[in-house]
Amino acid sequence: MHVLALVTQKGGSGKSTLSVGLAVAAMQSAERVALVEADAQGTISKWKARRENPYPCVERATDPAEIEPLLARLSAEGVWLAIIDTAATTNSLAMRVIACADLCLIPARPSPADIEAAIPTLIAIRRLNRRFAFVLNQTPTRGCRLSEAATSLSSIGALALPFIAQRNDHQDALGAGLGVTEFAPAGRASDEIGSLWGWIAGHLEELDDHGKGTLKEAC
Ligand SMILES: Nc1ncnc2c1ncn2[C@@H]1O[C@H](COP(=O)(O)OP(=O)(O)O)[C@@H](O)[C@H]1O
Ligand SMILES: [Mg+2]
Repeated sequence: MHVLALVTQKGGSGKSTLSVGLAVAAMQSAERVALVEADAQGTISKWKARRENPYPCVERATDPAEIEPLLARLSAEGVWLAIIDTAATTNSLAMRVIACADLCLIPARPSPADIEAAIPTLIAIRRLNRRFAFVLNQTPTRGCRLSEAATSLSSIGALALPFIAQRNDHQDALGAGLGVTEFAPAGRASDEIGSLWGWIAGHLEELDDHGKGTLKEAC
């Protein structure tokens, strides 16, 4: 089973929105997916309560000690991908999630303040020897601020592609209990999330090819 964690201590960067969007996109490409909510705010549970489709399943974790047994159970149940949404903090629960992740995605809006706010999370990820990639989220659909942000993130480490633009479909999908690829399949937001899922799936496959033994030791 692969474990993808959405992490950054910066609130409002898009961890929950991307968790949901990516989980549904992965599910639509025939993967067995579970969403794990490690955030007392409950955005994922509330989304799930509005959702008619019983999949993906949503599990909650409130204590760091719950993470490993939960992931072991999901793996034993045949789940191929667990996506963990975390709170906007570097608390012990978020640290445990990072330690168990094959890949940490750090969403950031394209502003210096937002990118700076992600640095403590990045330091924690590096200390735990995890793989990571930034995702530029809520990017303007036009304007030139983007390339500056992309350049500064590329210089720190991997930058997942494509950028995810600021689009109403993300908010409307969340409100409707849907993934954005279900809500408006022909829309640009759907297209971007589908492509981002493709980027992530490629990286997870690379991990399969090269093995993840040394990384797993931290968990
Ligand atoms: N790409 C996007 N386009 C439009 N709205 C977005 C996008 N990403 C996130 N949002 C909105 O921004 C707000 C914060 O996103 P959220 O996923 O809750 O952030 P976090 O979980 O990191 O605190 C929510 O209202 C969400 O719907
Ligand atoms: Mg959230």
